[in-house]
Amino acid sequence: MKTMHETCYPAPLPKHVAIIMDGNGRWAQQRHRPRLFGHKAGADSVREAVETAREIGVRHLTLYAFSTENWRRPGLEVKGLMTLLKTYLKSELDTMKKNGIRLQCFGQKERLPDDVRKMLDKVIAETEHCSKLRLNLCLSYGSRTEMIELSRRSVGNVHPVS
Ligand code: FPP
Repeated sequence: MKTMHETCYPAPLPKHVAIIMDGNGRWAQQRHRPRLFGHKAGADSVREAVETAREIGVRHLTLYAFSTENWRRPGLEVKGLMTLLKTYLKSELDTMKKNGIRLQCFGQKERLPDDVRKMLDKVIAETEHCSKLRLNLCLSYGSRTEMIELSRRSVGNVHPVS
């Protein structure tokens, strides 16, 4: 059966779309609202982006949501972001399972608060069988961290020649 995208638009569709989440703070500032108000709107846009990607037949959606640098933000903002993330995951789990969306997480998951990490692990485990859309969530990500991690892994993979 044709996807909605194939029916409506004949142009080829990218298999993978990546979004850097940015501008939440400025968006809120323009409306004279607190930054967290912008982050809440950002999370709502994620819901819409995921749904649209699934509907039109994108296979991978990568969201750069929270970088290693973001840990340096005021404690209250970080706390609010973590709460938003956990709330999002909790509220979306059933929809994700119903719609075939598999969650994967990239970045330093171990740096996340316990309750957020547990919720992430739960959603990752419970959507493992889903195959319509892969949602890659980058959390505590950073190019420097990734390079360090990559070299650490490759060193681990080097076997001495006998
Ligand atoms: C960038 O806006 C956005 C972030 C640093 C955080 C985005 C994360 C969430 C909204 C948490 C929920 C996540 C998901 C995936 C549901 P900014 O504050 O850097 O904006 P600015 O550049 O205008 O300051």
